Amino acid sequence: MDVVLLRQAPETVETDALIVLATEDAPPELHADCAKLVAGFYGSGEFQGGVGEHLLVHAPAGLKASRLLLIGCGKKAELNAATVRASAGAAVRHLRSKAVKRVAIALHALAMPASDAEIAAAVEGAILGDYEPDFLKTGESSRDKRLSALSIVAPGSGSSAEGAVSRGVILAESQNFARDLGNEPANVLNPTELANRARLMANQEGLEIEILEEDRLVHLGMGSLLAVAKGSAQPPVLVIVRYRPAEANQGKPLKNIHVGLVGKGVTFDSGGISIKPAEGMEKMKYDMCGGAAVLGAMRAIARLKPAVAVTALVPAVENMTGDAAQRPGDIVKTLNGKTVEVLNTDAEGRLILNDAITYAQRLGCTHLVDAATLTGAIVVALGHVYTGAFTNDQEWMDRVLAAAKNQGEKFWQMPLDPEYKDLLKNAYADLSNIGGRWGGAISAAYFIKEFADPTPWVHLDIAGTAWHDEAKPSMAKGPTGVCVRTFVELAMGL
Ligand code: BES
Ligand code: ZN
Ligand code: ZN
Repeated sequence: MDVVLLRQAPETVETDALIVLATEDAPPELHADCAKLVAGFYGSGEFQGGVGEHLLVHAPAGLKASRLLLIGCGKKAELNAATVRASAGAAVRHLRSKAVKRVAIALHALAMPASDAEIAAAVEGAILGDYEPDFLKTGESSRDKRLSALSIVAPGSGSSAEGAVSRGVILAESQNFARDLGNEPANVLNPTELANRARLMANQEGLEIEILEEDRLVHLGMGSLLAVAKGSAQPPVLVIVRYRPAEANQGKPLKNIHVGLVGKGVTFDSGGISIKPAEGMEKMKYDMCGGAAVLGAMRAIARLKPAVAVTALVPAVENMTGDAAQRPGDIVKTLNGKTVEVLNTDAEGRLILNDAITYAQRLGCTHLVDAATLTGAIVVALGHVYTGAFTNDQEWMDRVLAAAKNQGEKFWQMPLDPEYKDLLKNAYADLSNIGGRWGGAISAAYFIKEFADPTPWVHLDIAGTAWHDEAKPSMAKGPTGVCVRTFVELAMGL
């Protein structure tokens, strides 16, 4: 899709549909003839700018555009980049269902001039909204419904506005890259294929990539990661993607921050011998969305070039029930030396993340963030709205939370007090891999903390937010690409 910024008045934009974000406070300011028409809708109650409202007008008087789509954004005082993102997404989804190809989004109705954050958010919303997960359909796929051109109409915007547009494109396309990975079925996207996709992306973006295969993982001693993979015919891999700022290549000293992004890459989670119920098991193809998020973030990081070193690590395995599968009661030795009794083979995410985190520390990462579809318990606690966030270092957490807030991603900090450690006590090994019935998301996080300490670390449990069962007005159902934008923002801000 072509995306451009236009500084002209919206009335003069030639396009299939002009999208106007409108508030409840007053009708949007448009050319006189059109303003009269729109004021009439407000007067009659046909459209009043409330969130979720929209109204499509054909051949609108006074506009060069063939159609006008009014999108309600609610109260002006409550408007922010997140509203703009969602409204742009909802508008695009409405129009693509009507075979409209070229759209323009007018931001002038919100504030004059629109901020860079609003401009980027409008672009993101449109590109995220234009995405449908039906690329494997042969007949009625919605591929041909995609937009061909998008303009952001923001008269009066500053000289940095073009940069905001291209940042928005990069962020949203990288998020869609992660969503594509999440959508791939597990028979296509096994650990090896996940590594192939990572390699393709890294080669395209000029990032360094290293793929540690099974023999290497054995040699290193990643006993808990390997144990999870034993039940599958698919060999495990550890994907490592490196971004280094230009200063590093010029031999200049780096900032003493090296971010490690670790993403759970379970390409299918059957539960293993502690097998899951059949109902809903098909969704466990999305158990690699943490891994997809860190790869999506690396794609954007390669293009936006932050000043810090970032290394992504994706431990990729398939959790199956084959005759070599690990059993409940098995005791495994992790890369950092701690032993773990596997009381439930379905608590596999933590068994691969710990080894990847230890390896990240060996690679010199000074600050860690992991993203993982780790527990059903976080979905019980926070539903599908907030990602659960855990830490051993409040300062680092505050940075991550600030980045999430700036990008309109909802993270909620959960506790991780030392009292929870008792949940993981085990008579035969250093740790149990499960912590009992209560506080399941916390005991899972505590398990990872045992390996992350003392490196500042934030754990993001995205089991509830990485996948939406239902489409939203602004987004297709399925993988959301959550965390991509936050990770990029985090790196850019350091
Ligand atoms: N991948 C699941 C967690 C999950 C559940 C993700 C629902 C998305 C939606 C994870 O590996 C798992 O099975 N966790 C168990 C842990 C339990 C055995 C302690 C769970 O949450 O039930
Ligand atoms: Zn599991
Ligand atoms: Zn899992």
